[in-house]
Amino acid sequence: MDPVRNPYAPGAGQRPPELAGRDRELQQFAVTLERVAAGRPERSMVLSGLRGVGKTVLLNAMRSLAVQRAWGTAKIEARPEQGLRLPIAQAVHAAVREVAHRHRDPDRVDAIAGVLKAFAFRSRLEERKGVRWQPPTDVPASKGRADSGDLELDLTELFTDVADLARDLGVGLALFVDEMQDAAPAELAAVCGAGHEISQQRAPLVVVGAGLPHLPVALSASKSYAERLFRYVRVDRLPRDAADRALMVPAATEQVGFSVDALDELYRLTDGYPYFVQAYGKVTWDAALASPIRVQDVRVAGPEAEAELAIGFFGARYERATPAERDYMRAMADLGARTADGPVSTADVAGTLARRPQSLSPARDGLIKKGLIYAAERGSVAFTVPHFGKFLRTRHV
Ligand SMILES: Nc1ncnc2c1ncn2[C@@H]1O[C@H](COP(=O)(O)OP(=O)(O)OP(=O)(O)O)[C@@H](O)[C@H]1O
Ligand SMILES: [Mg+2]
Repeated sequence: MDPVRNPYAPGAGQRPPELAGRDRELQQFAVTLERVAAGRPERSMVLSGLRGVGKTVLLNAMRSLAVQRAWGTAKIEARPEQGLRLPIAQAVHAAVREVAHRHRDPDRVDAIAGVLKAFAFRSRLEERKGVRWQPPTDVPASKGRADSGDLELDLTELFTDVADLARDLGVGLALFVDEMQDAAPAELAAVCGAGHEISQQRAPLVVVGAGLPHLPVALSASKSYAERLFRYVRVDRLPRDAADRALMVPAATEQVGFSVDALDELYRLTDGYPYFVQAYGKVTWDAALASPIRVQDVRVAGPEAEAELAIGFFGARYERATPAERDYMRAMADLGARTADGPVSTADVAGTLARRPQSLSPARDGLIKKGLIYAAERGSVAFTVPHFGKFLRTRHV
């Protein structure tokens, strides 16, 4: 069918034409926003899940809910080897600008800009190089607020001040942190500490995190009370009805339907993983000759979708691994053949490779850092990418 009208959107962070199966989470977040704005006690949220399950698009949808309520919103993506201070300063600055123009007292707004500047200037010089953003230039940096150099203290003061500004306007401020597992443990602890303090003050500021499945564990390890601070929400594969909706609703807007056996086959292939739903949906649409889309169309499209995923979704990640890391993943995949690609024990991986476990630590740590695997339960690891084990078992090189 006409590829120009193809509604599907495979791609990292690509807004899906129909955000299926996330109503409960969005509803919950809407309540959170109302409660926080009203100064009621409330836990923030942390989304965790495998690659491509839709954490980023859910985070963005939550951000839209905050924007609809005229909140200031800030979003950052944590990166390994990069501190949070400067990205937070930059994003909070943008959030303040979103709301500040409605504020009646320009001196208060300037005072906050000065605090932001002081906060940003505490970042390491080498971090500021290469960052295009400049702290507000028209105000002097304040002194003695958010500039101690201790991230937790400084964040607490910065959050307090920007939350006060938002409260003057009857709204709040939301900070969204994507790929949160990539933040250094000390910085995670600082964010939790500041969030804890802010929630005790009932200040209208929420921090919403998203990251890989081990993020909740990383947060708890950084601060013992993290579990009470956040509501942990697992973002997972879509159940059958939601996966069908993700395919059918966008097609219906183009007067296109699916036969039931086509939907059966698509669910079998995608397992309900949102990225795969978009990827198979897209290729199937192009392959189909007419509405309704039939199972034969899915069968024709299947290999092509698989080939595209092998290059873009799986291959691009595989290429980032070193030879030793690839061996490690191959061993995981071989073991996974017997465990439906659930977590495998690191001792078994070592056994498969006939190596001592300690000698494999660099490969394991490298893969965790690259976000390809995560430490599941004690002494075991799993792929962060759905179907990655199957991909490795079937590739012919
Ligand atoms: N609820 C949903 N319904 C339909 N499609 C979805 C849904 N959620 C996500 N998608 C689609 O899945 C793909 C992956 O989404 P997204 O980039 O948000 O995943 P992610 O969990 O952030 O992945 P990563 O861990 O790689 O960052 C996108 O193409 C998006 O359009
Ligand atoms: Mg993402």
